[in-house]
Amino acid sequence: MRILSGIQPSGALHLGNYFGMMRPAIELQEKGEAFYFIADYHSMTSLFDAAQRRKNTLDVALDFLACGLDPKKSVFFRQSDRPEHTELAWILSTLTPMSLLEKCHSYKDKSAKGVPVNHGLFAYPVLMAADILLYDANIVPVGRDQKQHVEVTRDIAIKFNEHYGQTFVIPEPKIREEVAVVPGTDGQKMSKSYGNTIEIFGDEKAIRKKIMGIKMDSRMPEEPKPDADKNLAIQLLRLVAPPAVAADYESRLRAGGLGYGDLKKALFEHYWNYFAEARKKRVELVANPDYVNGVLAAGATKAGALAQTVLKRARKASGLE
Ligand code: ADP
Ligand code: TRP
Repeated sequence: MRILSGIQPSGALHLGNYFGMMRPAIELQEKGEAFYFIADYHSMTSLFDAAQRRKNTLDVALDFLACGLDPKKSVFFRQSDRPEHTELAWILSTLTPMSLLEKCHSYKDKSAKGVPVNHGLFAYPVLMAADILLYDANIVPVGRDQKQHVEVTRDIAIKFNEHYGQTFVIPEPKIREEVAVVPGTDGQKMSKSYGNTIEIFGDEKAIRKKIMGIKMDSRMPEEPKPDADKNLAIQLLRLVAPPAVAADYESRLRAGGLGYGDLKKALFEHYWNYFAEARKKRVELVANPDYVNGVLAAGATKAGALAQTVLKRARKASGLE
């Protein structure tokens, strides 16, 4: 079984990225042949600062390695180190109906908000299809917001196979329902674009402030709260605290007597402990940039062997060779 996923270097990674995509991806590296990459070509559709891209790319590499991605088990690389992605994207784009891309939220949402959309953003799902199909991936671990893109990938692959003959493996998205959408500090989906994130490796003071600032209702501490399971701090606590601890806070909130301030303090403490080991590892990695760059370079070489084989298959099938 081959597993593949990517993440854009578009800003500091947060709990939504971690629980929705990184942790499932890291767990899956034990179950098959895993390919994970930093989608720096994709980041070009919405980030236009070269120095920032360079910094974010290194940060994503550090975050992923610190959180447990093991380069001995997974192939970890930078997308733009493999130009096969862009060649395959072109080939696939010629079989992609405009109407399919017009339906994609990556482009539709921004265009609805009046953000000027570039061609790259419109064609984003085609590049993502190339990323996936280039490695004969069977499984793509992502958060729910990426499901549509994996479905587009399947449509394009099926169309190519029907038209030019069996070439691509049809992938499946893998979405963990329990963490399909991690809520942010305002209750909406946690996202860099909504300014409601809790970073994995945030500054202690800043994150404490964000967590203590999570909006709660105005009910008094002693009032019983029958809707305790829907409380935002409880939902986040379930992710970072042992299940029995989270259940205990939930029942105390339900019964009445637990103040929101105490609940949020507990959330901060559990969040901070949850990532303690990863935080230590990240400090070591920061001191060793040659190691990190070496991992990405070796990953690009390994990825290249497979990417070239599959690209050749597509070139032959479509009459380029
Ligand atoms: P953002 O919305 O912050 O820009 P990305 O779109 O870069 O995040 O997402 C990177 C990965 O993390 C994707 O697989 C996405 O599905 C997952 N992800 C992002 N936010 C969440 C969330 N709030 N809950 C679950 N998964 C998420
Ligand atoms: N579009 C994904 C995101 O924003 C990142 C990505 C690019 C990706 N290529 C991919 C994810 C291939 C999975 C597979 O989160």
